[in-house]
Amino acid sequence: MPVITNIEDLRALAKKRVPRMFYDYADSGSWTEGTYRSNEADFQRILLRQRVAVNMEGRSLRTTMIGQDVAMPVAIAPTGLTGMQHADGEILAARAARKAGIPFTLSTMSICSLEDVAEGTGRHPFWFQLYVMRDRGFIESLIDRAKAAGCSALVLTLDLQIIGQRHKDIRNGLSAPPKPTLANLLNLATKPRWCLGMLGTKRRQFGNIVGHVKGVENMGSLSEWTAKQFDPTLSWKDVEWIKSRWGGKLILKGIQDVEDAKLAADSGADALIVSNHGGRQLDGAPSSISALRPIVEAVGDRIEVHMDGGVRSGQDVLKAVALGARGVYIGRAMLYGLGAMGQEGVEKALALIRNELDLTMAFCGRTDIRDVDRGVLLPGTY
Ligand code: GLV
Repeated sequence: MPVITNIEDLRALAKKRVPRMFYDYADSGSWTEGTYRSNEADFQRILLRQRVAVNMEGRSLRTTMIGQDVAMPVAIAPTGLTGMQHADGEILAARAARKAGIPFTLSTMSICSLEDVAEGTGRHPFWFQLYVMRDRGFIESLIDRAKAAGCSALVLTLDLQIIGQRHKDIRNGLSAPPKPTLANLLNLATKPRWCLGMLGTKRRQFGNIVGHVKGVENMGSLSEWTAKQFDPTLSWKDVEWIKSRWGGKLILKGIQDVEDAKLAADSGADALIVSNHGGRQLDGAPSSISALRPIVEAVGDRIEVHMDGGVRSGQDVLKAVALGARGVYIGRAMLYGLGAMGQEGVEKALALIRNELDLTMAFCGRTDIRDVDRGVLLPGTY
Protein backbone atom coordinates (compact mmCIF):
# COMPACT_ATOMS: atom_id res chain seq x y z
CA MET A 1 0.00 0.00 0.00
CA PRO A 2 1.54 3.33 -1.01
CA VAL A 3 2.00 5.97 1.69
CA ILE A 4 -0.66 8.67 1.31
CA THR A 5 0.38 12.09 2.53
CA ASN A 6 -1.82 14.45 0.52
CA ILE A 7 -4.72 14.67 -1.93
CA GLU A 8 -2.35 14.41 -4.89
CA ASP A 9 -1.32 10.92 -3.71
CA LEU A 10 -4.98 9.89 -3.72
CA ARG A 11 -5.43 11.35 -7.22
CA ALA A 12 -2.48 9.36 -8.56
CA LEU A 13 -3.82 6.14 -7.01
CA ALA A 14 -7.35 6.78 -8.29
CA LYS A 15 -5.95 7.25 -11.78
CA LYS A 16 -4.49 3.74 -11.57
CA ARG A 17 -7.58 2.10 -10.13
CA VAL A 18 -10.58 3.75 -11.81
CA PRO A 19 -11.56 2.97 -15.43
CA ARG A 20 -10.30 5.69 -17.72
CA MET A 21 -13.69 7.10 -18.71
CA PHE A 22 -14.71 7.73 -15.09
CA TYR A 23 -11.35 9.03 -13.95
CA ASP A 24 -11.34 11.41 -16.94
CA TYR A 25 -14.93 12.46 -16.24
CA ALA A 26 -13.86 13.63 -12.79
CA ASP A 27 -10.49 15.08 -13.70
CA SER A 28 -11.53 17.40 -16.49
CA GLY A 29 -13.01 20.78 -17.26
CA SER A 30 -14.80 22.12 -20.31
CA TRP A 31 -13.10 23.15 -23.58
CA THR A 32 -9.57 24.50 -22.91
CA GLU A 33 -9.88 23.67 -19.20
CA GLY A 34 -8.59 27.19 -18.47
CA THR A 35 -11.11 27.84 -15.70
CA TYR A 36 -10.58 24.35 -14.32
CA ARG A 37 -6.85 25.07 -13.97
CA SER A 38 -7.29 28.59 -12.59
CA ASN A 39 -9.55 27.28 -9.80
CA GLU A 40 -6.51 25.55 -8.32
CA ALA A 41 -3.82 27.98 -9.49
CA ASP A 42 -5.48 31.09 -8.02
CA PHE A 43 -5.41 29.58 -4.54
CA GLN A 44 -1.62 29.37 -4.85
CA ARG A 45 -1.32 33.10 -5.47
CA ILE A 46 -2.93 33.96 -2.13
CA LEU A 47 -0.32 34.00 0.61
CA LEU A 48 -0.74 33.35 4.33
CA ARG A 49 0.73 35.37 7.18
CA GLN A 50 2.72 33.40 9.71
CA ARG A 51 2.45 34.54 13.33
CA VAL A 52 4.62 33.22 16.15
CA ALA A 53 4.55 33.02 19.93
CA VAL A 54 0.76 32.94 19.97
CA ASN A 55 -0.84 30.37 22.30
CA MET A 56 -1.96 27.54 19.98
CA GLU A 57 -3.66 25.35 22.52
CA GLY A 58 -7.33 24.39 22.47
CA ARG A 59 -7.95 24.85 18.76
CA SER A 60 -11.42 24.42 17.27
CA LEU A 61 -12.60 23.96 13.69
CA ARG A 62 -16.26 23.61 14.67
CA THR A 63 -18.71 26.00 13.11
CA THR A 64 -22.14 25.96 11.42
CA MET A 65 -23.30 25.86 7.82
CA ILE A 66 -26.92 26.97 7.27
CA GLY A 67 -27.41 26.66 11.01
CA GLN A 68 -26.24 23.03 11.12
CA ASP A 69 -23.25 22.07 13.27
CA VAL A 70 -20.21 20.94 11.28
CA ALA A 71 -16.92 19.60 12.62
CA MET A 72 -15.07 21.81 10.11
CA PRO A 73 -16.28 24.25 7.44
CA VAL A 74 -16.21 21.60 4.72
CA ALA A 75 -19.01 19.71 2.96
CA ILE A 76 -18.91 17.04 0.29
CA ALA A 77 -19.94 18.49 -3.06
CA PRO A 78 -22.53 16.82 -5.25
CA THR A 79 -20.73 14.98 -8.06
CA GLY A 80 -22.32 13.02 -10.88
CA LEU A 81 -21.65 9.29 -11.33
CA THR A 82 -19.88 8.99 -7.96
CA GLY A 83 -20.89 5.34 -7.80
CA MET A 84 -18.81 4.75 -10.94
CA GLN A 85 -15.58 5.83 -9.24
CA HIS A 86 -16.11 2.94 -6.85
CA ALA A 87 -19.00 0.52 -6.32
CA ASP A 88 -21.68 2.07 -4.07
CA GLY A 89 -19.58 5.25 -4.02
CA GLU A 90 -22.27 7.62 -2.77
CA ILE A 91 -23.12 5.41 0.21
CA LEU A 92 -19.43 5.08 1.11
CA ALA A 93 -18.74 8.81 0.80
CA ALA A 94 -21.84 9.63 2.87
CA ARG A 95 -20.63 7.25 5.59
CA ALA A 96 -17.19 8.91 5.59
CA ALA A 97 -18.82 12.36 5.84
CA ARG A 98 -20.96 11.20 8.73
CA LYS A 99 -17.89 9.90 10.57
CA ALA A 100 -16.10 13.22 9.96
CA GLY A 101 -19.10 15.24 11.16
CA ILE A 102 -19.62 17.13 7.90
CA PRO A 103 -22.50 17.28 5.37
CA PHE A 104 -22.66 14.95 2.38
CA THR A 105 -24.47 16.23 -0.73
CA LEU A 106 -26.01 13.69 -3.10
CA SER A 107 -26.22 14.62 -6.78
CA THR A 108 -29.41 14.16 -8.80
CA MET A 109 -27.11 12.37 -11.28
CA SER A 110 -25.84 9.86 -8.72
CA ILE A 111 -25.63 6.12 -9.16
CA CYS A 112 -26.94 5.24 -5.68
CA SER A 113 -30.41 6.68 -5.16
CA LEU A 114 -31.76 8.94 -2.42
CA GLU A 115 -33.28 5.87 -0.81
CA ASP A 116 -30.03 3.86 -1.07
CA VAL A 117 -28.06 6.59 0.70
CA ALA A 118 -30.70 7.09 3.41
CA GLU A 119 -30.72 3.37 4.12
CA GLY A 120 -26.95 2.95 3.78
CA THR A 121 -26.21 5.64 6.37
CA GLY A 122 -28.76 4.68 9.01
CA ARG A 123 -30.94 7.63 7.89
CA HIS A 124 -28.35 10.16 8.97
CA PRO A 125 -29.49 13.44 7.33
CA PHE A 126 -27.70 14.45 4.14
CA TRP A 127 -28.16 17.19 1.53
CA PHE A 128 -29.69 16.66 -1.90
CA GLN A 129 -28.68 18.53 -5.06
CA LEU A 130 -31.47 19.17 -7.53
CA TYR A 131 -31.36 19.83 -11.26
CA VAL A 132 -34.42 21.45 -12.78
CA MET A 133 -35.83 19.33 -15.57
CA ARG A 134 -38.62 20.02 -18.02
CA ASP A 135 -40.85 17.44 -16.36
CA ARG A 136 -42.10 19.34 -13.29
CA GLY A 137 -43.92 16.25 -12.04
CA PHE A 138 -40.55 14.50 -11.81
CA ILE A 139 -39.06 17.47 -9.89
CA GLU A 140 -41.95 17.32 -7.46
CA SER A 141 -41.41 13.63 -6.95
CA LEU A 142 -37.64 14.16 -6.40
CA ILE A 143 -38.39 16.83 -3.80
CA ASP A 144 -40.84 14.49 -2.07
CA ARG A 145 -38.33 11.65 -2.17
CA ALA A 146 -35.63 13.95 -0.69
CA LYS A 147 -38.02 14.80 2.16
CA ALA A 148 -38.85 11.15 2.73
CA ALA A 149 -35.13 10.31 2.77
CA GLY A 150 -34.65 12.83 5.59
CA CYS A 151 -32.55 15.32 3.62
CA SER A 152 -31.82 18.43 5.68
CA ALA A 153 -31.06 20.82 2.80
CA LEU A 154 -31.77 21.15 -0.89
CA VAL A 155 -28.92 22.39 -3.08
CA LEU A 156 -30.40 23.80 -6.27
CA THR A 157 -27.91 23.96 -9.14
CA LEU A 158 -28.42 26.95 -11.44
CA ASP A 159 -25.48 26.66 -13.84
CA LEU A 160 -26.11 23.42 -15.69
CA GLN A 161 -29.27 23.77 -17.74
CA ILE A 162 -27.06 23.21 -20.75
CA ILE A 163 -23.80 21.30 -20.54
CA GLY A 164 -20.27 22.52 -21.32
CA GLN A 165 -18.33 20.24 -23.65
CA ARG A 166 -15.71 18.06 -22.01
CA HIS A 167 -13.62 16.63 -24.83
CA LYS A 168 -12.49 13.50 -23.01
CA ASP A 169 -16.06 12.37 -22.29
CA ILE A 170 -16.80 12.41 -26.01
CA ARG A 171 -13.61 10.55 -26.90
CA ASN A 172 -14.19 7.98 -24.16
CA GLY A 173 -17.87 7.45 -25.01
CA LEU A 174 -18.76 8.12 -21.36
CA SER A 175 -21.79 6.14 -20.17
CA ALA A 176 -23.03 4.45 -17.00
CA PRO A 177 -22.53 1.55 -17.08
CA PRO A 178 -19.73 1.48 -19.70
CA LYS A 179 -20.67 -0.08 -23.04
CA PRO A 180 -18.90 -3.40 -23.74
CA THR A 181 -16.70 -2.08 -26.56
CA LEU A 182 -13.26 -3.56 -27.15
CA ALA A 183 -11.51 -0.40 -25.87
CA ASN A 184 -13.60 -0.42 -22.68
CA LEU A 185 -13.13 -4.12 -22.06
CA LEU A 186 -9.35 -3.79 -22.49
CA ASN A 187 -9.28 -0.88 -20.05
CA LEU A 188 -11.55 -2.66 -17.54
CA ALA A 189 -9.26 -5.70 -17.65
CA THR A 190 -6.59 -3.53 -16.01
CA LYS A 191 -8.92 -2.51 -13.12
CA PRO A 192 -9.69 -5.79 -11.29
CA ARG A 193 -10.59 -4.18 -7.94
CA TRP A 194 -13.10 -1.85 -9.57
CA CYS A 195 -14.66 -4.72 -11.57
CA LEU A 196 -14.95 -6.92 -8.50
CA GLY A 197 -16.68 -4.13 -6.62
CA MET A 198 -19.11 -3.54 -9.47
CA LEU A 199 -19.92 -7.24 -9.72
CA GLY A 200 -20.90 -7.11 -6.06
CA THR A 201 -23.48 -4.32 -6.40
CA LYS A 202 -26.72 -3.83 -8.28
CA ARG A 203 -26.17 -0.10 -8.48
CA ARG A 204 -24.74 0.64 -11.92
CA GLN A 205 -27.19 3.14 -13.41
CA PHE A 206 -28.48 6.60 -12.52
CA GLY A 207 -30.38 5.50 -9.43
CA ASN A 208 -32.53 8.60 -8.96
CA ILE A 209 -33.81 8.42 -12.51
CA VAL A 210 -33.85 4.97 -14.07
CA GLY A 211 -37.05 3.27 -12.97
CA HIS A 212 -38.52 6.58 -11.73
CA VAL A 213 -39.17 8.33 -15.04
CA LYS A 214 -41.63 6.73 -17.41
CA GLY A 215 -39.92 5.24 -20.44
CA VAL A 216 -36.39 5.57 -19.03
CA GLU A 217 -35.03 2.06 -18.60
CA ASN A 218 -31.48 2.78 -19.55
CA MET A 219 -30.16 6.29 -19.94
CA GLY A 220 -26.47 5.84 -20.65
CA SER A 221 -24.95 9.26 -20.79
CA LEU A 222 -25.30 12.42 -18.81
CA SER A 223 -24.95 14.70 -21.83
CA GLU A 224 -27.76 12.88 -23.68
CA TRP A 225 -30.05 13.20 -20.66
CA THR A 226 -29.26 16.88 -20.01
CA ALA A 227 -29.81 17.81 -23.64
CA LYS A 228 -33.24 16.16 -23.61
CA GLN A 229 -34.47 16.76 -20.08
CA PHE A 230 -32.84 19.78 -18.39
CA ASP A 231 -34.99 22.88 -18.64
CA PRO A 232 -33.24 25.75 -20.50
CA THR A 233 -36.04 28.16 -19.48
CA LEU A 234 -35.09 27.99 -15.77
CA SER A 235 -35.69 31.39 -14.12
CA TRP A 236 -35.84 33.03 -10.67
CA LYS A 237 -39.60 32.31 -10.71
CA ASP A 238 -38.80 28.60 -10.72
CA VAL A 239 -36.42 29.15 -7.81
CA GLU A 240 -39.30 30.69 -5.88
CA TRP A 241 -41.54 27.74 -6.75
CA ILE A 242 -38.92 25.19 -5.69
CA LYS A 243 -38.27 27.08 -2.46
CA SER A 244 -41.91 26.94 -1.45
CA ARG A 245 -42.42 23.36 -2.72
CA TRP A 246 -39.42 22.19 -0.66
CA GLY A 247 -40.09 24.33 2.42
CA GLY A 248 -36.73 23.59 4.08
CA LYS A 249 -33.17 24.92 3.95
CA LEU A 250 -32.27 25.97 0.41
CA ILE A 251 -28.78 26.52 -1.04
CA LEU A 252 -28.31 28.02 -4.53
CA LYS A 253 -25.29 26.62 -6.38
CA GLY A 254 -23.44 28.08 -9.33
CA ILE A 255 -23.27 31.82 -8.59
CA GLN A 256 -20.32 33.67 -10.16
CA ASP A 257 -21.54 37.19 -10.68
CA VAL A 258 -22.36 39.90 -8.14
CA GLU A 259 -25.68 40.71 -9.87
CA ASP A 260 -26.77 37.07 -9.61
CA ALA A 261 -25.59 36.99 -6.01
CA LYS A 262 -27.92 39.90 -5.23
CA LEU A 263 -30.82 38.06 -6.87
CA ALA A 264 -29.91 34.95 -4.88
CA ALA A 265 -29.99 37.00 -1.66
CA ASP A 266 -33.35 38.51 -2.71
CA SER A 267 -34.75 35.00 -3.25
CA GLY A 268 -34.61 34.31 0.49
CA ALA A 269 -32.42 31.22 0.08
CA ASP A 270 -30.33 30.26 3.10
CA ALA A 271 -26.99 30.18 1.28
CA LEU A 272 -25.40 30.53 -2.13
CA ILE A 273 -22.40 28.66 -3.45
CA VAL A 274 -19.86 30.65 -5.44
CA SER A 275 -19.05 28.05 -8.08
CA ASN A 276 -18.14 27.62 -11.73
CA HIS A 277 -19.06 23.94 -11.53
CA GLY A 278 -15.45 22.91 -11.08
CA GLY A 279 -14.49 24.60 -14.37
CA ARG A 280 -16.80 22.22 -16.23
CA GLN A 281 -19.29 24.72 -17.62
CA LEU A 282 -18.30 28.26 -18.75
CA ASP A 283 -14.66 27.95 -19.75
CA GLY A 284 -13.14 31.44 -19.54
CA ALA A 285 -14.97 32.32 -16.33
CA PRO A 286 -12.87 33.54 -13.38
CA SER A 287 -11.75 31.09 -10.73
CA SER A 288 -14.14 30.55 -7.83
CA ILE A 289 -11.70 31.88 -5.24
CA SER A 290 -11.34 35.14 -7.20
CA ALA A 291 -15.14 35.45 -7.58
CA LEU A 292 -15.67 34.92 -3.85
CA ARG A 293 -14.51 38.24 -2.41
CA PRO A 294 -16.71 40.63 -4.45
CA ILE A 295 -19.73 38.43 -3.75
CA VAL A 296 -19.06 38.36 -0.01
CA GLU A 297 -18.65 42.14 -0.05
CA ALA A 298 -21.93 42.61 -1.94
CA VAL A 299 -24.24 40.17 -0.13
CA GLY A 300 -22.36 38.62 2.78
CA ASP A 301 -24.54 40.45 5.30
CA ARG A 302 -27.75 39.11 3.71
CA ILE A 303 -27.02 35.47 2.84
CA GLU A 304 -24.50 32.85 3.87
CA VAL A 305 -21.82 32.51 1.21
CA HIS A 306 -20.18 29.15 0.47
CA MET A 307 -17.74 28.24 -2.30
CA ASP A 308 -16.39 25.30 -4.29
CA GLY A 309 -13.78 24.83 -7.00
CA GLY A 310 -10.09 24.01 -6.79
CA VAL A 311 -10.01 23.05 -3.11
CA ARG A 312 -7.30 20.42 -2.68
CA SER A 313 -5.96 21.17 0.79
CA GLY A 314 -6.70 22.57 4.20
CA GLN A 315 -4.68 25.64 3.23
CA ASP A 316 -7.21 26.26 0.45
CA VAL A 317 -10.08 25.89 2.93
CA LEU A 318 -8.46 28.41 5.26
CA LYS A 319 -7.99 30.93 2.43
CA ALA A 320 -11.63 30.61 1.36
CA VAL A 321 -12.84 31.00 4.96
CA ALA A 322 -10.57 34.04 5.37
CA LEU A 323 -12.22 35.60 2.33
CA GLY A 324 -15.66 35.12 3.84
CA ALA A 325 -16.81 31.62 2.87
CA ARG A 326 -18.80 30.06 5.69
CA GLY A 327 -18.25 26.65 4.12
CA VAL A 328 -16.24 25.07 1.36
CA TYR A 329 -17.21 22.03 -0.74
CA ILE A 330 -14.85 19.36 -1.95
CA GLY A 331 -15.73 17.34 -5.06
CA ARG A 332 -12.62 15.99 -6.75
CA ALA A 333 -10.62 15.63 -3.52
CA MET A 334 -13.39 13.30 -2.33
CA LEU A 335 -13.64 11.45 -5.67
CA TYR A 336 -9.89 10.80 -5.71
CA GLY A 337 -10.07 9.30 -2.24
CA LEU A 338 -13.05 7.18 -3.23
CA GLY A 339 -11.50 5.94 -6.46
CA ALA A 340 -8.23 5.18 -4.70
CA MET A 341 -9.48 3.35 -1.61
CA GLY A 342 -13.27 3.46 -1.28
CA GLN A 343 -14.67 4.71 2.03
CA GLU A 344 -11.24 4.54 3.65
CA GLY A 345 -9.93 6.83 0.91
CA VAL A 346 -12.67 9.42 1.51
CA GLU A 347 -11.97 9.25 5.23
CA LYS A 348 -8.29 9.76 4.43
CA ALA A 349 -9.04 12.77 2.20
CA LEU A 350 -11.14 14.37 4.94
CA ALA A 351 -8.55 13.64 7.63
CA LEU A 352 -5.77 15.13 5.48
CA ILE A 353 -7.74 18.31 4.85
CA ARG A 354 -8.74 18.58 8.48
CA ASN A 355 -5.16 18.24 9.69
CA GLU A 356 -3.83 20.73 7.14
CA LEU A 357 -6.56 23.21 8.08
CA ASP A 358 -5.93 22.83 11.81
CA LEU A 359 -2.15 23.26 11.60
CA THR A 360 -2.29 26.06 9.04
CA MET A 361 -4.76 28.01 11.15
CA ALA A 362 -2.35 27.64 14.10
CA PHE A 363 0.64 28.78 12.03
CA CYS A 364 -1.40 31.88 11.24
CA GLY A 365 -1.85 32.51 14.94
CA ARG A 366 -5.54 31.63 15.24
CA THR A 367 -7.19 28.99 17.40
CA ASP A 368 -10.85 29.18 16.40
CA ILE A 369 -12.02 28.87 12.78
CA ARG A 370 -14.89 31.23 13.57
CA ASP A 371 -12.36 34.02 14.21
CA VAL A 372 -10.50 33.55 10.93
CA ASP A 373 -10.71 36.64 8.74
CA ARG A 374 -8.62 38.42 6.10
CA GLY A 375 -6.05 39.14 8.78
CA VAL A 376 -4.51 35.70 8.08
CA LEU A 377 -3.80 36.68 4.44
CA LEU A 378 -0.88 38.71 3.17
CA PRO A 379 -2.21 42.04 1.87
CA GLY A 380 -1.76 42.48 -1.86
CA THR A 381 -2.04 38.76 -2.58
CA TYR A 382 -5.82 38.43 -2.54
C1 GLV B 1 -22.40 17.23 -13.66
O1 GLV B 1 -22.76 17.84 -12.70
C2 GLV B 1 -21.15 17.41 -14.31
O2 GLV B 1 -20.50 18.43 -14.11
O3 GLV B 1 -20.77 16.49 -15.05
